[in-house]
Amino acid sequence: MPRMPELERCIQRYIQANPNSAHQLGAAARVMPGGNTRSVLFYEPFPLVMTAGNGCFLDDMDGHRYVDLLAEYTASLYGHSHPVITHALARAMENGLNLSAHTPLEARLAALMVQRFGCIEQVRFTNSGTEANLLALAAAKAYTGRNAVIAFNGGYHGGVLSFGGANTSMNVPHRVHLADYNDLDGVERLLREQVDIAAILVEPMLGAGGCICAEPGFLEGLRERSQAHGTLLIFDEVMTSRLAPGGLQEKLGITPDLITLGKYIGGGMPCGALGGRRDIMGQFDPRHGSLSHAGTFNNNVLTMAAGIAGLEQVYTRDEALKLNARGDRLREQLNEVLAPMAMQYTGQGSVMNLHPTGLPIRRPSDIPTDRKELRDLFFFHLLEWGIYSARRGLLALSLPLTEHELHRLVTATQAFVERYAGN
Ligand SMILES: Cc1ncc(COP(=O)(O)O)c(C=O)c1O
Repeated sequence: MPRMPELERCIQRYIQANPNSAHQLGAAARVMPGGNTRSVLFYEPFPLVMTAGNGCFLDDMDGHRYVDLLAEYTASLYGHSHPVITHALARAMENGLNLSAHTPLEARLAALMVQRFGCIEQVRFTNSGTEANLLALAAAKAYTGRNAVIAFNGGYHGGVLSFGGANTSMNVPHRVHLADYNDLDGVERLLREQVDIAAILVEPMLGAGGCICAEPGFLEGLRERSQAHGTLLIFDEVMTSRLAPGGLQEKLGITPDLITLGKYIGGGMPCGALGGRRDIMGQFDPRHGSLSHAGTFNNNVLTMAAGIAGLEQVYTRDEALKLNARGDRLREQLNEVLAPMAMQYTGQGSVMNLHPTGLPIRRPSDIPTDRKELRDLFFFHLLEWGIYSARRGLLALSLPLTEHELHRLVTATQAFVERYAGN
């Protein structure tokens, strides 16, 4: 299908402005499939290649500087090279990497997480959010002696636990029953029909599915129904834990049995964590538990040190409240500007996603597919304004952003509406 002419023109300007990125991708494609090792980063005609980050800015191979409003898909909460994190990393390196042993650091980070997230009594660390979710499901199956899982259409829990589309051939072969987000009756039906449900795995806000919020009563209902059916409730807060000082579980006043974390929790280093009830986590106790959980880098000192510095000194409760209040204000402002084009951002606090509709969105199937090009046009328009976001419309705030950069985004959005409204 031919592209809309405005989008075509934008893409032509993009190609002309970014020859070095195009060349680099071409060279990379000789040794990596499509020049890529992380699917989400690819987009047509070719993605930008970045060479440096500083605070809330990114520099690409063609000498452009962008305001980073993607923040590594929420993981770069601290921005690039935050001095406190950099210092913690430098100290950790001086003390030696790869110590082949326990260190005091993992217990310190675990204690900070126990303090912070009310539902966590004990923690295990992993190298990614994906691994944390795999571990959560294994723990739930072992604990309940059951085999199946309820997850949600449009849910994303990692590259091998992805329920967003038809192609799920990469998924691990768990027996998964899919329900619709915000449909408590559907979940109740599954729980009644299937006696073998070990866990409900849910994001308290659908993240990759489009920053779709849970309606009042939905998550509370999952808590209540899961308890009634002897099923564990797992909150995947890999993306949402930054949205309130103690994660969304705290903001909502719901205590899941298990919670998974990742992204910023390791101070920007590769990380993941599973936390929750002592009796469930106790299965991993090497002294008398039944489950063993390996991982060479689970307690690597760089992640532990950066994670401690971040939680202890930078992303304090106060900072979490401030950043998310800023995000809420920004989303409201953007939505006011976008209303004439029937576009909107959904989400909460510091994480939001653009959608080409003004109608309410309760689940991913409410997102229209016939106006996708408008979202693409907005993505390329923002690049021309020196603003980097995700092509799918995701924005995530980082701590170094100032009002100046957020104002630039609002102005760029106004310019978009002025230029393209009525087309
Ligand atoms: C909600 C959620 N769960 C799990 C993951 C997977 O985390 P990772 O990419 O660290 O494996 C992500 C990543 O985007 C996520 O958003």
